[in-house]
Amino acid sequence: MTKVAKSGLEPVKAKLATDVIGPIKTLMKARKNLLEIIPESATKQPIVSGTMGKVSWHMLMDPKSIGRVMKDKLDAYPKSDVTKNILKPAIGESMLIAEGAHWRWQRQATAPIFTHRNISNLAPIMSATAHITCDRLSACKGEADLFDEMIRATFEVIANITFGGSDAVECDELHVALNNYTDSVGKMSLLDLIGLPTWVPRPARIFKNSAIRKMHSMATDAITRRKTEGAKDIPDLLDLLMKGEDPETKRRLNTAEIRDTLLTFIVAGHETTALTLAWGLYLCAFDQEVQDKLRAEAQSVLKGRIATAEDCPSLPYTEQVIKETMRLYPPVAFMSRTALETDELCGQPVKRKDTVMLPVYALHRNHALWENPDTFDPNRFANNYKPDRFSYIPFGDGPRICIGAQFAMIETKIVLSTLISRFKFERIDGKDPKPVLLITLRPEEGIPLKVTPV
Ligand code: HEM
Repeated sequence: MTKVAKSGLEPVKAKLATDVIGPIKTLMKARKNLLEIIPESATKQPIVSGTMGKVSWHMLMDPKSIGRVMKDKLDAYPKSDVTKNILKPAIGESMLIAEGAHWRWQRQATAPIFTHRNISNLAPIMSATAHITCDRLSACKGEADLFDEMIRATFEVIANITFGGSDAVECDELHVALNNYTDSVGKMSLLDLIGLPTWVPRPARIFKNSAIRKMHSMATDAITRRKTEGAKDIPDLLDLLMKGEDPETKRRLNTAEIRDTLLTFIVAGHETTALTLAWGLYLCAFDQEVQDKLRAEAQSVLKGRIATAEDCPSLPYTEQVIKETMRLYPPVAFMSRTALETDELCGQPVKRKDTVMLPVYALHRNHALWENPDTFDPNRFANNYKPDRFSYIPFGDGPRICIGAQFAMIETKIVLSTLISRFKFERIDGKDPKPVLLITLRPEEGIPLKVTPV
C-alpha cells in the first residue's frame, strides 16, 4: 500500500462496467471504449476471470501474479497473437512484438541507443520543440487543444530524431500516414485484444495498407539517403540504429530491420509521450495548487530559459507530477498476453491459450494497492518513493520493459517544465476530457484548456 494520499476532488475517470453483459453488448461497448468492458470490481479484486465465446480470460491486478507473467515466466506468456497480427504489417517482426531469440538480439543491439549519453545528445531537439510549442501557444488566442498540441510536439521530436534532415512537407505527410495507421490499429485492436479470430472483418483494415506503404517508403528513403551522406556529427537515432549490433554475435540490423525498428520507435514512442504531457497539463489545470508549485520549481531552475536535459535532475516535483499522471492515466492502459501452458495465477487455474490481460488502468486505481486511488496527489511520489514492484507499471516491467522510458521521461520533463514556466493552464467549464481506451488512453474530444502567458 502506498503512502496515505490526501483525499479530495477527483479528476475525470472512466465509467467501468458494473453489470454483467453478454458477448454482443460487450463487443459493442468495446468498439467504442475498451475501458467500459473492464469491470468495476477490477479496482477492488486481485483477479477477475470470465469467458468470451470460447476464449477464457483473466484480468490481473495482483502484483505477484503480474510479476510471474511479465518476468518469471516470460516465455510462457508471450504477447497475444492477435496483437502481433495487427502490428506486424507495419513494423514487421520488430522488437515490440518479436519473441524469444529474435526479440533478444534486437533488444541487445538497440539497447545502447538509449544510454543516458545518447539521449542527452538528442535532447536539444526536445528543447527546440518546447520552444516552438511555446510560440504556438502564445499565438493561440487564449484557448487550445493541448492533446493536439502535444501530439504535434512529440511528433516533431521523433520525426527530427529519426528522419532528421527531411523537409517539413515530408514530415507532414508522414504524420498523416501515421495518424491513419494508428486510428485504424486503434479500432481493430478492440476486437483483437479480446481475442476475436483474425478472419472477423475489421472495418479499418482497408485504410491501413496505403498508410503503411507510405511510412515504409519514407523510412527506406531516409535510410538510403543516410547511407550515401554518412553519419551526422552528433549521431541521431538513425545513425545509432545503423551502427547497432548484437554484442554477442556482432550481427547488425539490415535495411528492412532498421526501417521496422525506426517505425516501431515512432509508433511506440510518439503518442504515448504526448498523452503523458496532455493528461499532465489537464491535471495541472484541475489542481491549481499543484500547478503553482510546479511553476515555482520550473521558474527557479530555468530562470526564463527553455529546459535542457541537464536541468532534469533539478526538477523533482515535475517528476512527481509526471509519475502521478501516468498512474491515473497510463498511456498504455491495457496489455494482453496468451498463456502457452497451464498455470495458476492468484489461485485461479489458467489453461493453455487463455488470454491474460493486464488492465493497467484498474491496477493503478486498485483500492488494495493505493490509498484514495482516484485522487490526484503527486506527493505520493515524494522523496523518490518507489511503489511495490508490479503495482505501478506505466512502462511495463521485466525484460520487456519499455526501452524508451528514460527518453520519454526526459522529453516530458523538458516540455512540461518549459510550458508551465511560461503559461497558466485552466479548465474550461463543460469541456472536461473523457478518457477512452483505443490501444492508448486518449481524451475523446481532446484536452481544451484556457492558456494565459504568465
Ligand atoms: C510516456 C511514454 C511511453 C510509455 C507510457 C510507454 C509504455 C510502454 C509499455 C507499457 C511497454 C511494454 C508493452 C508490453 O509489455 O506489452 C513499452 C514497450 C516499448 N516501448 Fe514504450 N512507452 C513510452 C515511450 C516510448 C518511447 C519514447 C520509445 C522509443 C523511442 C518506446 C519504445 C518502446 C519499445 C521499442 C517497446 C518494446 C520493448 C520490448 O518489447 O523489448 N516507448 N512501452
